[in-house]
Amino acid sequence: MNATTAGGAQTVNVAIVGGGLMGREIAAAIQRWPALVDHPVRPRLTAVCDINPAALEWFRQIDSVTTLVTDHHELLADPAVDVVYVAVRHDLHEAIYTDVVRAGKSLLAEKPFGIDGAAAEGIMAAIAEHPESFVRCSSEMPFFPGAQRAIDYVLSGALGRIVEARNAFLHSSDLDTAKPLNWKRQAKFCGEAGVMNDLGLHAWHVPLRLGWAPESVYAVLQDIVPERPGPSGELEPCDTWDNATLHAWSRHDGVAFPLTTEMKRIDPGQKNSWEFEAIGLEGGVRFSTKNPKSVEVFRVVDVPGVGKEQVWQQLDAGSQSVWPTVTGPIFESGFSDSILQMWAAFLAERAEALGDRFGTARPEEAAFTHRIYAAAIASHREGRRITV
Ligand SMILES: NC(=O)c1ccc[n+]([C@@H]2O[C@H](COP(=O)([O-])OP(=O)(O)OC[C@H]3O[C@@H](n4cnc5c(N)ncnc54)[C@H](O)[C@@H]3O)[C@@H](O)[C@H]2O)c1
Repeated sequence: MNATTAGGAQTVNVAIVGGGLMGREIAAAIQRWPALVDHPVRPRLTAVCDINPAALEWFRQIDSVTTLVTDHHELLADPAVDVVYVAVRHDLHEAIYTDVVRAGKSLLAEKPFGIDGAAAEGIMAAIAEHPESFVRCSSEMPFFPGAQRAIDYVLSGALGRIVEARNAFLHSSDLDTAKPLNWKRQAKFCGEAGVMNDLGLHAWHVPLRLGWAPESVYAVLQDIVPERPGPSGELEPCDTWDNATLHAWSRHDGVAFPLTTEMKRIDPGQKNSWEFEAIGLEGGVRFSTKNPKSVEVFRVVDVPGVGKEQVWQQLDAGSQSVWPTVTGPIFESGFSDSILQMWAAFLAERAEALGDRFGTARPEEAAFTHRIYAAAIASHREGRRITV
């Protein structure tokens, strides 16, 4: 039984396993919780685990953190821990996620939800055995306010008969060929799906939530930089796909349409862009985090003195996303805000208070992405369209 705050919010104790890039980001987001208006839950970060003791030092500045350990089993044995966020290498997902679920804790997993389809199935089996464990998978980009406007636009039916759609996650952090090899660029740690394991859920969360599960896929995969300097400075194999473009057939309102997803580590000019576009005969919508205030919508309008014309109109998205915040609605939103919104949705849904608002990626959605990636790998290898 959780305690409640004076304001009536349920206190939830959070632990983090993996205090690297994402572990620190989530710790910082939880410190910004008072920005949320009337949220039913009040999370407290109480415990952190990392096998590297040096990684734990940063977390000492957070007053609520009372437990710092190097073995995640110690965290899971603590009855005070309610929710565990795990951000570790992909080859460790299955073992640690299933440990969390079997301990009866709730889990916010990181993508790709297991290194491959077999690992995802193992996690799903543990979830089936432990329905008391509430599980979701991290995917924060759809929580940008502009992304929410785009999703709502599609759900409104404004597209009419769909023509095509595209969702992409593009960066260029691997443009420098002298960048040292790390775990994310080795198949044994990242997975055979390579960049799809890294960026795929970002590009598939919204399509899957809109009911656009692909029926078939044709994939083009590239390993652009096959070797990188290892720890000794000598070149070592960098054996993961860098870029992936998937051309899929999906259905919207029963109508088959081409859905393209792009996942790229090397897209020169892109730093970290999530892009969504859906076009129909009656309307269209476009959003990119490259220009995060702006959402574009398409209509045929009657222009005074001109007549009927095809027009892309632009609106500013403001700051409000899934859960209201104290931030002025006209202000800008960014990556850290999307992380806070994802956590707001995750903990609200766990407390059965999310209603019909957009939620964090579900286990079955995350597991399904591995079927898409396996089909994509087969498509690339065989040079043909593969049924998913
Ligand atoms: N949602 C996003 O936008 C996003 C962004 C980047 C990475 N990720 C995902 O987050 C996960 C972690 O990525 P990262 O960039 O934070 O990696 P990272 O390498 O920065 O951090 C991983 C941490 O895990 C620790 N670790 C390794 N083995 C451990 C173990 N057995 N127990 C506890 N700690 C252990 C490492 O010491 C390291 O500090 C991956 O699944 C990755 O795909 C998500």
